Amino acid sequence: MKRSEAKDRIETLRKELEEHNNRYYVLNQPSISDFEYDILLNELDNLEKKFPEFASENSPTRHVGSDITNEFEQFEHTYPMLSLGNTYSEQELREFDSRIVRSITEPVEYVCELKFDGASISIIYEDGALLRAVTRGDGNKGDDVTLNVKTIKSIPWKITGKVKPSDFVIRGEILMPRAVFDRLNEERQKAGLAPFANPRNAASGTLKLLDPRIVATRSLDCMVYFLLSEDLPFNNHYENLLEAARWGFKVADSIRLCKSIDEVIQFISSWESARKSLPYDTDGVVVKVNSLRQQQELGFTAKSPRWAIAYKYKAEEAATRLLSVAFQVGRTGAVTPVANLEPVLLSGSTVKRATLHNADQIALLDLHLNDMVFVEKGGEIIPKIVGVDHSYRNESNKPVVFISNCPECGTPLIKNEGEANHFCPNYLHCPPQIKGRIEHFISRKAMDIDGLGEETIDLLFNNNLVKNFSDLYDLRIEQLVPLERLGQKSAANILKSIRDSVNTPYSRVLFALGIRHVGETVAKTIAGQFKSIDDLIKAGIEQLTGVYEIGPKIASSIVSYFSDPDNLDTIRRLKAAGIKFSSNEESIKPGNLLDGKTIVISGVFEKYSRDEYKELIERNGGKNSSSVSRSTTFILAGDNMGQSKKEKATELGVPMISEPDFLKLIGK
Ligand code: IVH
Repeated sequence: MKRSEAKDRIETLRKELEEHNNRYYVLNQPSISDFEYDILLNELDNLEKKFPEFASENSPTRHVGSDITNEFEQFEHTYPMLSLGNTYSEQELREFDSRIVRSITEPVEYVCELKFDGASISIIYEDGALLRAVTRGDGNKGDDVTLNVKTIKSIPWKITGKVKPSDFVIRGEILMPRAVFDRLNEERQKAGLAPFANPRNAASGTLKLLDPRIVATRSLDCMVYFLLSEDLPFNNHYENLLEAARWGFKVADSIRLCKSIDEVIQFISSWESARKSLPYDTDGVVVKVNSLRQQQELGFTAKSPRWAIAYKYKAEEAATRLLSVAFQVGRTGAVTPVANLEPVLLSGSTVKRATLHNADQIALLDLHLNDMVFVEKGGEIIPKIVGVDHSYRNESNKPVVFISNCPECGTPLIKNEGEANHFCPNYLHCPPQIKGRIEHFISRKAMDIDGLGEETIDLLFNNNLVKNFSDLYDLRIEQLVPLERLGQKSAANILKSIRDSVNTPYSRVLFALGIRHVGETVAKTIAGQFKSIDDLIKAGIEQLTGVYEIGPKIASSIVSYFSDPDNLDTIRRLKAAGIKFSSNEESIKPGNLLDGKTIVISGVFEKYSRDEYKELIERNGGKNSSSVSRSTTFILAGDNMGQSKKEKATELGVPMISEPDFLKLIGK
C-alpha cells in the first residue's frame, strides 16, 4: 500500500472505530459484532506498525473506548483500567506463551477464567467498607455509580471479620442473567420501548440509570476477577481471588490453575459449548500469568498487560435455506434487504430472519434464492448471512436482485456515489419515512409529547388523521375517541400533551423538525445564532458555515430543507398552532435569574429529569458543571445525592438547594 493510501485508510479506520466505541460503550447499541470490531482494530494496528510516521497518541489502538456519559460524577482510577489483547486462534495463544516463556526463565503457571460479557466495574474498599464504585470510563477515570452498585446483592457493603488488607480495589464484571434479560425485554416491548440487543447492553444500560430503585429491580450480579492493593494477601493471582471469595465476593467456580499452555487450550475447548448452559453470557477465556512477580516483570503496553490475553470464541454459525428476500424502508428512507430463512436454532434461539445490509453485500455473497446459507449471530446482534454453501447451489436458483422501486410507495430508488445504501427519495409521501419523522418530532428530547407511541402514530396515520407532524395540532377529540384502543381519557391526555408542547423552546423545535444532520447540539448552536426561524430561512451557505461548528454538510442540508415549499408550509402551520420559532420568547419568560451562577446537579428528582433541569439552568442564564469546586455557586440536590459530592460541598461550604426551593428560585 502507498503511503498516501495508508494515511487515508488509517484515518478512516480511526473514525470508524471511534464511532463503534461510542455505540458500544455509551449508547449500548453496537452495530457490529466484537469479531468484526477486532478485525478493524487489527487492520489499524498493522498499518500503524507499518507506517509509524502516522502513529498517534489518540488512536483507538492506544486507548480504550470510553463509557463516560456526563450524568455522573467522575473519579480517577488509582490503577488505570486497561483492556486485554485479543485472539481468536490457538496459534496466537501459543505465540503468547512463547513470548512469556522466552522472557521468564522459571516455570510459568496460568490462570484460566471464563470471560463474562457485561460491564466492567472497579470497587474501592476502605477499612473493609465499600467506598465507591466506578465504571471503566476511558480507562483513567470513570463514572461514579456507587448507589447503583450497592443494589447488587453479591457485592458486600462491608467485609465482616478480619480482612487483610482492609484498603483494596476489586474489579469485576457486572452481569445480567439471561433469564432476567428475556423478562426485561418482554416488558420493554409491551411498554413500546426498544428492546436491549443483548444482556451486556442491558447490564451496562442499567448500571447507568439515574434511579437506583429501578436498578434494584433488575437483579444484576457481579463476578470479580481482579484484586488490587499495596498489600495483597498472596503473591499470586489465583490465591488472591480465592481469598476475595472468602470475603464474600462472587468468583466463578470455573477458574482453573494451569501448568502449561496445553492445559490452557484444553480448558478453552472444554468450555466451548459447556458455557452455553451457564446463566450468563460468556464470550471467551481470559488467560493470566499467575505469579505477581512474573506479571511485574512482563509489564504493560500502552493499552493492556503483557501477562494476560483474551481468547475469544468465534460467533456461532448455522446453515439454513434462504427462502426469500424482503426490503425494508427505514425512517431516513434507507432500504435494507432482509433475508427470510428456514427457521434454524442458533445460540439458544430460533432464527428466521437475517440482515443483508445492502446491495453490495448481496453481490459480494453472490446470493441466489433457495441457497444454503451460513448465518452468524455476532455478539448476539441481529443475525446476518456470512456465506453461501455453493455445493448446494442448484442451477435453477435465481440470483437475488435488488429492487429498483420503493416497496412502500413505488418511487424509483436512488443510490448516491460513495454511499452503500439505496434510498427512497420520496421524503414527503413515503409512509415509513413520514411515520419516522412524526416519531422523532414527538420524542422526549424534541417536543416531548406524552401518550403518543409508535402504535398510536400508526393508528393516526392509517386513519388518515396525521400525514405530517403539523397535523397533530389540528386533531380533535371526536376524531380520536372512536379509534381502536383509545378511550376518552387517553384521547384527552394526548390532546393536552400536544397543546402543552407549543411551549417547547425554539432550539428543541428546530431539532424536532428532523432536518438531516441537525442533532440536538447543532440545533442549540443554530438557535443561538439565528434568533428566529425567518433569519435562518434567509441564511445562505456562507452565512451558515460562518458559524462555529457548522460545516458545509450541515449548511447545505439546512438550505435544501428550507428550499422545499412543503417544509415551509409545515412551518407556517406550526407557527399558526402557536409553536415558538424564535428565541426571544424564551429569554423574556424566565429572565436571567441564574446569570453568572455555576450549578452542579446531583441525585434523583421528582418533577423534572436531570436533562430538563440542565436545560432550565441554561435557559435562566446559569452554567452547568459536573464536579463540585470552589467556583460552584450551589448544588441542586435531589434524593440519593452522591456521597462524595456531599462531602466535598460541606468541605468547601457550597450550599445545597432542594428541588422545590430551586423551582421557587426560578419562579416555577
Ligand atoms: S482481566 C488487566 N478477567 O474483559 C486485566 N477481564 O477486554 C484486565 N472481562 O474490561 C481485565 N472477564 O471487563 C479480566 N476474567 C476476566 C474478565 C475480564 C471479563 C472483561 C473486563 C475487561 C475486558 C478486557
